[in-house]
Amino acid sequence: THPIRIAPSILAANFSQLGQEVRDVVDAGADWIHLDVMDGHFVPNITFGPDVIKSLRPHTQATFDCHLMISPADPFLEAFAKAGCDIITVHAEAGPHLHRSLQTVRSLGKKAGVSLNPATPESVIEYVLDAVDLILVMTVNPGFGGQKFIGAMEEKIRRIKAMVGDRPIEIEVDGGIAPETADIVARAGANVLVAGSAIFKGDSVEAYRGAIEAIRSP
Ligand code: DX5
Ligand code: ZN
Repeated sequence: THPIRIAPSILAANFSQLGQEVRDVVDAGADWIHLDVMDGHFVPNITFGPDVIKSLRPHTQATFDCHLMISPADPFLEAFAKAGCDIITVHAEAGPHLHRSLQTVRSLGKKAGVSLNPATPESVIEYVLDAVDLILVMTVNPGFGGQKFIGAMEEKIRRIKAMVGDRPIEIEVDGGIAPETADIVARAGANVLVAGSAIFKGDSVEAYRGAIEAIRSP
């Protein structure tokens, strides 16, 4: 079905030189750039907002995959669209009107994603399947890089894969992805693999390339 795509999360990159980091990881074979936006409210950490994303936009043509860990999300969707995000993912837990949030993202001309925390059952997306382009299954509790993959998410990915059927929806995973866990999630049905620490622990384009290839073909 969908090809495997690798989406490095710049959460684990050197924040003092993000433009260079984005160029390096794309040179190393990254398919998408995963942008983790945190508000210190929905998750217990703060990262960056639309202005940082806008400043990164000229550095690459790669797809900007924006993961909004913010609540509320709706007042900021237009700003992230204007900043140059291609895919905007909101959390199902972040507001009472998930379907409206997804409609808003599409009305801004962007691909709409929905993300589920580890404790959230896949049933919450049953009635929005025709409103989403991407489903992001969190395989750690959002907020920080470098956490351990939660094994129970393998079954959730399988169930979501079955729910999706032949709809053209990307299934993305995020958290604790390294070659060993990449193999598990890809077999379960995920096709977009986010990885932060497993890629940015390296310190050169060649190291990034090796890590990306090891995750792509574990
Ligand atoms: C977690 C973020 C992830 C994180 C993944 O809240 O959404 O994208 O950066 O980091 P690793 O790959 O280190 O688990
Ligand atoms: Zn993320």
